[in-house]
Amino acid sequence: MSPFGCWGLPTALLALFCCPGSGEEFEVHMYPEQLVVEPGGSQVVNCSTSCANPNTGGLETTLSKTLIQSKPQWKQFLVSNISQDTVVHCYFSCFGSQKLKSLNVSVFYPPKQMLLKIQPTWVAVGKSFTVECHVPDVKPLESLTLTLLRGKETLCNKTFTGEKNDTQGATATHKGMAHREDGRHNFSCHARLDLRSRGGAIIHRVSEPQMLKVYEPTPDNQMVVIISVASVLLFLFVTSILLCFILGQHWRQRRMGAYGVQDA
Ligand SMILES: *[C@@H]1O[C@H](CO)[C@@H](O)[C@H](O)[C@H]1NC(C)=O
Ligand SMILES: *[C@@H]1O[C@H](CO)[C@@H](O)[C@H](O)[C@H]1NC(C)=O
Ligand SMILES: *[C@@H]1O[C@H](CO)[C@@H](O)[C@H](O)[C@H]1NC(C)=O
Ligand SMILES: *[C@@H]1O[C@H](CO)[C@@H](O)[C@H](O)[C@H]1NC(C)=O
Ligand SMILES: *[C@@H]1O[C@H](CO)[C@@H](O)[C@H](O)[C@H]1NC(C)=O
Ligand SMILES: *[C@@H]1O[C@H](CO)[C@@H](O)[C@H](O)[C@H]1NC(C)=O
Repeated sequence: MSPFGCWGLPTALLALFCCPGSGEEFEVHMYPEQLVVEPGGSQVVNCSTSCANPNTGGLETTLSKTLIQSKPQWKQFLVSNISQDTVVHCYFSCFGSQKLKSLNVSVFYPPKQMLLKIQPTWVAVGKSFTVECHVPDVKPLESLTLTLLRGKETLCNKTFTGEKNDTQGATATHKGMAHREDGRHNFSCHARLDLRSRGGAIIHRVSEPQMLKVYEPTPDNQMVVIISVASVLLFLFVTSILLCFILGQHWRQRRMGAYGVQDA
């Protein structure tokens, strides 16, 4: 039900007949002006007006609210169990005119888990590997930046656009070729949720560091076996040829020697 309906007409008539022109210059304020809370959160909201003697005033919201304190020029409420983005309105009417102020309430899910995965964890120089960072249940995505780091160096910076209401995960991926250098630094992932434009602060979270093991590409074991067998065979082959050659020479010399004796 609208709170404006029942008062709008009578107060307008009152303003027309009783005190024309008065009550036009007043303002409605709300504190805080912006609000960002974690799901299920509560917040004290102060509605105030510059009107010296307002007829009515209050807070219009679908959230559960409790009036904490009330003075002619201000009312303090507790709004609680805030579970999704919403708009809360504060209104006052003063001599027939009514004014309202709106407050955007955003619900945020801070990055809690930072899942960093390097695949494979053991890689040869020159081979490719992937670093993936996943943050489940984070919101609002448009306030999030994920940064993949190698040591202190930024590998990639990813920003997001949030279109759906649901809390969903965010993922940043970096594909690289392994350098020797990669094995000497820790990889990590940094999440930054910047809620300043919604009345909040900046929330940072860093993943556990992870290392990539980088090794020099060496011929594999099978290759080593094949090469050694081949070398041994080659050696035996060469030695036997040499041996045959030497023995052959020896034998020929002896026969030549025998002929020589015969000729003589
Ligand atoms: C609510 O706001 C008004 C105007 O700023 C201020 O005078 C009043 O003290 C506030 N009330 C509380 C409880 O903070
Ligand atoms: C808070 O809100 C949620 C969802 O809107 C609801 O299921 C729950 O019952 C509420 N809790 C309280 C204590 O009002
Ligand atoms: C509140 O939200 C509306 C719509 O999302 C936007 O146009 C408006 O600028 C916001 N107000 C403030 C004070 O951030
Ligand atoms: C990545 O984003 C952060 C935060 O937005 C910024 O401070 C940093 O300079 C960016 N780095 C690069 C390399 O773009
Ligand atoms: C987001 O939620 C609001 C209110 O719960 C709903 O009206 C709107 O259709 C939803 N939008 C999407 C894209 O789901
Ligand atoms: C990488 O992180 C581990 C665990 O925090 C730490 O023990 C190690 O010293 C770090 N290595 C480098 C090169 O920073």
